[in-house]
Amino acid sequence: MTSSSLSATSSLSAVAGGTGRRDFRYGSALVALHWLMLLLMIAVYASIELRVLYAKGTEPREFMKALHFMFGLAVLCMVALRLVARWASPQPSTLDHIHPSWVQLASTVGHLALYALMIGMPILGWLTLSAAGKPIPFFGLELPALMAPDKALSKSFKELHETLGELGYWLIGLHAIAALGHHYLLKDGVLRRMRLMR
Ligand code: HEM
Ligand code: HEM
Repeated sequence: MTSSSLSATSSLSAVAGGTGRRDFRYGSALVALHWLMLLLMIAVYASIELRVLYAKGTEPREFMKALHFMFGLAVLCMVALRLVARWASPQPSTLDHIHPSWVQLASTVGHLALYALMIGMPILGWLTLSAAGKPIPFFGLELPALMAPDKALSKSFKELHETLGELGYWLIGLHAIAALGHHYLLKDGVLRRMRLMR
């Protein structure tokens, strides 16, 4: 870290944490869940994208799809934990004293969209399988269908799920670029708010 970023972040910590006000950093549980979620999202995307390595109807392809469903449902469980962690731990200080209001707004909208992705996509996937009348596997269990079979609706859910899934790449990509931009260009210490080690 450069001396300018060090001084920026330490002065921020002093502003936020040193006075007994809210911490500059996210709570440890939220930080751990954030990075676990990144790993899980990589697994969700990799399992569905890599299914094309196998021919349609073959066992390995069906296995890749089952992995996608299970990892996707694990996202839903983990986001529930994350919301509890968010609610139970104090929120870190806002950064409105160093960023213009449009940056704060863009960041809030981006974070809300990421939560919508983590909640909406698994539910939409679950609805797709339910409406198709297919089983919903979850690590040795079979989850109940969310609705009665309806082929036409299943097709619409699947199309929407695939389109939003593509959008998810952009959303996560922009989020990661913004985080790295804050770190390397603005040198405002935002990445440190999510650092695993104190
Ligand atoms: C955060 C969670 C999820 C994300 C980001 C996600 C993303 C995606 C993406 C990008 C595709 C399309 C791949 C392509 O067009 O080549 C896809 C397909 C699909 N996903 Fe998900 N998904 C998630 C969770 C789930 C869950 C929980 C289920 C079901 C329980 C599910 C069921 C499906 C189905 C049925 C398809 C179509 C697969 C096929 O027939 O080829 N998804 N998903
Ligand atoms: C390489 C990938 C990633 C990097 C470098 C990264 C970095 C960060 C950083 C530095 C913050 C703190 C921002 C702030 O304080 O304003 C943050 C917050 C956040 N990130 Fe990421 N992130 C990544 C991937 C993801 C993924 C895959 C998701 C979810 C799909 C995600 C969801 C969030 C959310 C929702 C927040 C707001 C804090 C919260 O409520 O948990 N991030 N991220």
